[in-house]
Amino acid sequence: MDEVVFRSPRKKGRIAVLLSGRGSNFMAIREAVHRGAINAEIALVLGNKAEAPGLLKAREWGLETVFLDPKAFASRDDYDRAVIGELDKRRIDLVCLAGYMRVLTPALCDAYRHRLVNIHPALLPAFPGLHVQQKAIDWGVRFSGCTVHFVAAEVDMGPIILQACVPVLQDDTEDALAARILVEEHRIYPEAVRLYFEGRLEVRGRRVFVLGLGA
Ligand code: GRF
Repeated sequence: MDEVVFRSPRKKGRIAVLLSGRGSNFMAIREAVHRGAINAEIALVLGNKAEAPGLLKAREWGLETVFLDPKAFASRDDYDRAVIGELDKRRIDLVCLAGYMRVLTPALCDAYRHRLVNIHPALLPAFPGLHVQQKAIDWGVRFSGCTVHFVAAEVDMGPIILQACVPVLQDDTEDALAARILVEEHRIYPEAVRLYFEGRLEVRGRRVFVLGLGA
């Protein structure tokens, strides 16, 4: 078996959520933190869109928020340098991408290697990228779902932590399938974060083992 390259820490963690829009996954994580299911606090919600509903909600809840305007930076590298600065400043243990519509620079991926996770609304490695619910319908797959994975520089291709499956129905629309998948996203994203801070995620090669599941 491949050697262990990473083991998640067992500790009370400091989470940053990066988002661009609605923020329903952020809210699911926040809810799990709130009821004590995740041993962590949300120390930062950072957005690249001033009016992102998720960012406004975070502010309303009294969480620390930062809006970084992409227009204020000359390059993506500069932008992500500022993101790293905001994360480092708050000693963030885990960055959760939650509908964050920017491709991360390698510098950010490297700086937060194994401390960066994402949720994707398809069963990776099938259907990376955007509009993946429609792509799944058009392809004719019988099942789709969602994937929580570590973030690597190659988009949507980091080691898989958890996945959940939903059926694709014959008369599905993009919205109907997206809604069915979203229910599962809200279940497995907080679950993955919980496992992370229970010190139960072990990465070997590109496989992630969940420790303590029994035989
Ligand atoms: C989700 O479908 C997520 O899988 C994808 O972007 C969407 C974000 O939704 N990465 P929300 O902002 O969390 O509601």
